[in-house]
Amino acid sequence: MGGCVQPAEVRRRILEEHRKLRVMLDALVSLATRFEHGSSADGAKLREDALALYETFAGHLLHEENTLEPALRARGAEGEKLAERLAHEHREQRALLAYLVSRLEDHPGPTLLVAREVRSFAEYLYHDMAHEESTLLSAAALPDEP
Ligand SMILES: [Fe+2]
Ligand SMILES: [Fe+2]
Repeated sequence: MGGCVQPAEVRRRILEEHRKLRVMLDALVSLATRFEHGSSADGAKLREDALALYETFAGHLLHEENTLEPALRARGAEGEKLAERLAHEHREQRALLAYLVSRLEDHPGPTLLVAREVRSFAEYLYHDMAHEESTLLSAAALPDEP
């Protein structure tokens, strides 16, 4: 599985997903911000885009678990620790995603609240990606040469 992919390639693919996630986040945040400033933009579009982002992020979690986690575990005890942290963070993130999706699907709330939640999720996600890039995805955690 992911084990045969080189660490540099694992990192490259994940960074590419982070880049795409940031593009989606930037667009979503600017839409959400317009709502908060009283724009009459389309609320259905905000919900749709938010759901698309949550789905993309859920796929990203799986991708990291299938590639980054084994690559870290292959690094020995230090890597095992990082892999455990990744697994723990992803459990929390899945709980957060389930909550956010249920808020959009079950009882669609006022668009203003949706906009605030989207912005706070975006803030969290920007921070999470930067954190991963400086820890789990650093050259120290995933050396190209064994
Ligand atoms: Fe992650
Ligand atoms: Fe990530």
